[in-house]
Amino acid sequence: MALAPSERGNWTSRTGFILAAAGSAIGLGNIWRFPYTAGENGGGAFVLVYLAFVLLIGIPVLLGELSVGRATKLNPVGAFKKLRDSRFWPMVGGLGVVTGFGILAFYAVIAGWTLAYLYKAVTGAFGGEVTAEASTAIFTGLIGSSWVAIILTAVFILLTILVVRRGISGGIEKATKILMPTLFIILIILALRSVTLSGGSQGLEYLFKPDFSKLTGGAIMAALGQALFSLSLGMGAMITYGSYFPDDADLPTSGVTVALFDTMIALLAGVIIFPALFSAGVEPNAGPGLVFVVLPTIFHALPAGGFFAIAFYALLAIAALTSTISLLEVVVSYFVDERGWGRNMAAWTLGLGCLVLAIPSALSQGASPFFSDFFGRGDFLTLQNNLWGNYSLTIGAFLLCIFLGWVWGVDKSVESMELSGHKLKGRVLYSFLIRFVCPIAVLIVLSYIVRGNYF
Ligand code: PFF
Repeated sequence: MALAPSERGNWTSRTGFILAAAGSAIGLGNIWRFPYTAGENGGGAFVLVYLAFVLLIGIPVLLGELSVGRATKLNPVGAFKKLRDSRFWPMVGGLGVVTGFGILAFYAVIAGWTLAYLYKAVTGAFGGEVTAEASTAIFTGLIGSSWVAIILTAVFILLTILVVRRGISGGIEKATKILMPTLFIILIILALRSVTLSGGSQGLEYLFKPDFSKLTGGAIMAALGQALFSLSLGMGAMITYGSYFPDDADLPTSGVTVALFDTMIALLAGVIIFPALFSAGVEPNAGPGLVFVVLPTIFHALPAGGFFAIAFYALLAIAALTSTISLLEVVVSYFVDERGWGRNMAAWTLGLGCLVLAIPSALSQGASPFFSDFFGRGDFLTLQNNLWGNYSLTIGAFLLCIFLGWVWGVDKSVESMELSGHKLKGRVLYSFLIRFVCPIAVLIVLSYIVRGNYF
C-alpha cells in the first residue's frame, strides 16, 4: 500500500535538502578514497580529469536522478514503475536498492575503523612519534581482530538506524543540519593548518599542477569512477533524496550546489592531506591505507598534531555517517513505499540485516582466512567494493542515462526540475550531455572495467 507523499515526509527547506544531499555525497569517498586515488594516479592531471567528469557527467546525472525522484515522489523501484510500466525499468530501480544494501555492508566496516581511530586520537595514541611499523601494526591489529571489527561496524550501523528510523525532516535533515556545518568547520581549520606547514606547498603543487605524462587510461577511468561514487550516483540515492524535494523549491540550483560542495570538499581533503604528506616527506601513493596508516606517522610532526588527529578522524566519522544514512534510506524507502512497512521496523530490520552481510567484510581483513581470500579471489571487502561500488554504480548510471535521454525523455526530466518555476539554464547542453556524452563515456568505462583493467 503506497503512502501519500505528505505521509512520506519532505525536506522542510531547500537548505535542508542541500545539507542532506551534500551529506550523502560527501563521505569516505571524498576524504579517504579521493586522496589515495589521486595519489595513485599521479596527482594534478587526475584531478583535472576528475573535475571535467564532475561537470560533464556528474552534474547532469545528478540533476537527472533528482528530477526522477521529484516527478514520482517515490523510491527508485516505484519511481521507474510509475514512469514506465514495464518489467525491465523497475528492475533497474531494484538494482539500486540492492546496491545500496551492498555498499552499506562494506562501507560501514571502513566507517567503523574511523570510530576506532577517533578513539585512539582522543586517548592520545597519535600524540607522540608513531613509526611506520607501529602504525601498520595498529592498523592490521585493529582490522584483523574479529570482535573489534564487528563491534565497530555494528556501532556504526546502529547510529545510522537511529537517524533513519526518525524519518526525513525529524531524523535525516535534523542530523545533517548539525553534522555538515561541523564538518565544514573542521575541514577549514585542518586545511589552514596543513597549507601553512613548511614544505606543504609541494603538496599543493602535486595536487593542482597537472603533469599530463602521468595520465594513463587507468587514471581516466579511475577519475570517472571517483566522480560517480563521490556524488552518490548510479543507485538511486539521489532519486530517493529528490523524492522528498519540496515542489516550490529551486531544484537545478540546489543540485548544482550539492555537486559543487562535494567537489570542493574532495579538493579540501586533498589540500589537507597532500601538504601534510609532503611536509613529512612521505610518498602519496600508499593506496587505501593512506589516511589510516600514513597519517598517524606524521601527526606528531605537525604543530598541534594531537588536535589535528582528533579533528581529522572526527571529520571522517561524521562524513561517513551522513553517507551511510543515505544508503540505508534508499533501502528503507523501498520497503516503506512499496511493501507498506513502517519506517521504524524497516530501519531496524534492514539495518540489522545489513550488519549480518557486513560481518564477512569485517572479518576479511585478516581475522578469518576464509574471508580474507574468498575462494582465491581476494578479500571479501574488496570484492564487495568492486561489485557494488564500481560495477553496479557504473551499470546503474549508464541505464539511468538511457532512461532519461531515450525512454522517459529529457523534456519530462526538465519539466520536473522546473516544477517550481526556476529554470534550468543550459537545457540544450543538459540534453546533449545526458543523451550522448554521459552514456558513451560511462559505457567506455564499463567496458574497461569488464576487461579487468581497472579495480
Ligand atoms: N558518496 C559517498 C561518498 O563519497 O563517500 C558514497 C555513496 C553514498 C555512494 C551513497 C553511493 C550512495 F548512494
